[in-house]
Amino acid sequence: MNILILGSGGREHTFAWKIAQSKTCKSLFVAPGNSGTAEVATNVNIGVNDFPAIKQLVLDKAVDLVVVGPEDPLVNGIHDFFLNDEALKHVAVIGPQKAAAELEGSKEFAKEFLYRHNIPTAAYESFTKATVEQGYAFLETLTAPYVLKADGLAAGKGVVILNDIDEAKAELKSMLVDSKFGSASTKVVIEEFLDGIELSCFVLTDGTNYKVLPTAKDYKRIGEGDTGLNTGGMGAVSPVPFATDAFLEKIEQRIVKPTVEGLKKDNLPYVGFIFIGLIKVGDDPKVIEYNVRMGDPETEVVFPRLKNDLVDVLQAMANGTLDKIDIAIDSRAATTIMLVSGGYPEAYEKGKVITGIETIEDSIPFHAGAQLEDGKVVTSGGRVMSITSYGETYQEAIKKSYQSIAKLQFDKMYYRKDIGFDL
Ligand code: AMP
Ligand code: GLY
Repeated sequence: MNILILGSGGREHTFAWKIAQSKTCKSLFVAPGNSGTAEVATNVNIGVNDFPAIKQLVLDKAVDLVVVGPEDPLVNGIHDFFLNDEALKHVAVIGPQKAAAELEGSKEFAKEFLYRHNIPTAAYESFTKATVEQGYAFLETLTAPYVLKADGLAAGKGVVILNDIDEAKAELKSMLVDSKFGSASTKVVIEEFLDGIELSCFVLTDGTNYKVLPTAKDYKRIGEGDTGLNTGGMGAVSPVPFATDAFLEKIEQRIVKPTVEGLKKDNLPYVGFIFIGLIKVGDDPKVIEYNVRMGDPETEVVFPRLKNDLVDVLQAMANGTLDKIDIAIDSRAATTIMLVSGGYPEAYEKGKVITGIETIEDSIPFHAGAQLEDGKVVTSGGRVMSITSYGETYQEAIKKSYQSIAKLQFDKMYYRKDIGFDL
């Protein structure tokens, strides 16, 4: 079959790397892709939100299956766009329809879903410009730290955690009254602070059946020791060593099962990935957020551990036969370390030539913000390349990634040297 992947990051290179190994995949396209996807697929320079151009590509290339990488096109309704078009409705789309994508598109929608289905999560209330005074009063009833979340998509910047009540009130005003995050902060969710260690759980569903993929932990802060600004993710480890079988069983029974059943009860069709951000409070998992896609860089450690032919799995998701699939996982650990442009997540330069990629033998270099220019691989984004390795233990895998990184070079390259430090 012919397959199209939408996106251009390390996640999409990992999808392409895995799908290219499938016996069922005939032609593989990535839009817009990067220098890594160009090695295993055909890149097509179309943006992920340009639905008419995507339609033309799907028809021209007789694409049978579309795998949506990032959340934006899902929240914008790409799956609905396919279902509502006579010429496209036979094409399978991996990723939920717009209604269910609101689990990521609106924090309030997600909280209401969690409450409705009795899934453990932080207590909350939501506020608008008209109820900002009630918001201040609600903050008074909480103890620090204060968690404020812009309701809509805010490029990963919409969550603010503050220790001081006056700063929290000022932030609430800035979001609701001064539109700090534009329309994304028309509503703000104020949440109870949960103290614990975070991990992520990944679920595949066809809307009825589900399969749980290995857990992963990512490292979001730019600085060592989890300090400094938030990023898209600086590295990841799978499996998560503290996620024991007993803890995983709690996640499945208390969170995964009621989530999939809740989607069904609420009549929210869902074919795709559910990425559940969790926090371990004492011995109990609680939901911090839902994402309606795979994580990046978590995909770069989860998919290399999946032994199945990925296209078989994706087809089963699309056909509603996921119950017929046995997921097989490599017992080895996988880790990935992200190389970023100096300055990221603030201003950084682009167009730096990356050298040494071809000398890497013990790791898989997944390209992210990197593209081909005159036959050379050059940086084109903040997160540039994610170096994944396997090991009998996560420590061994991390060591291999650092050894491989020593062979790579670009001007102002930066990476965290402490991935896994807290495990
Ligand atoms: P989110 O965008 O919802 O994943 O939030 C971003 C980050 O904020 C999470 O990864 C957590 O580190 C932190 N966070 C979000 N909600 C809470 C909460 N209720 N308690 C503690 N930390 C939180
Ligand atoms: N690494 C976190 C995310 O993909 O949202």
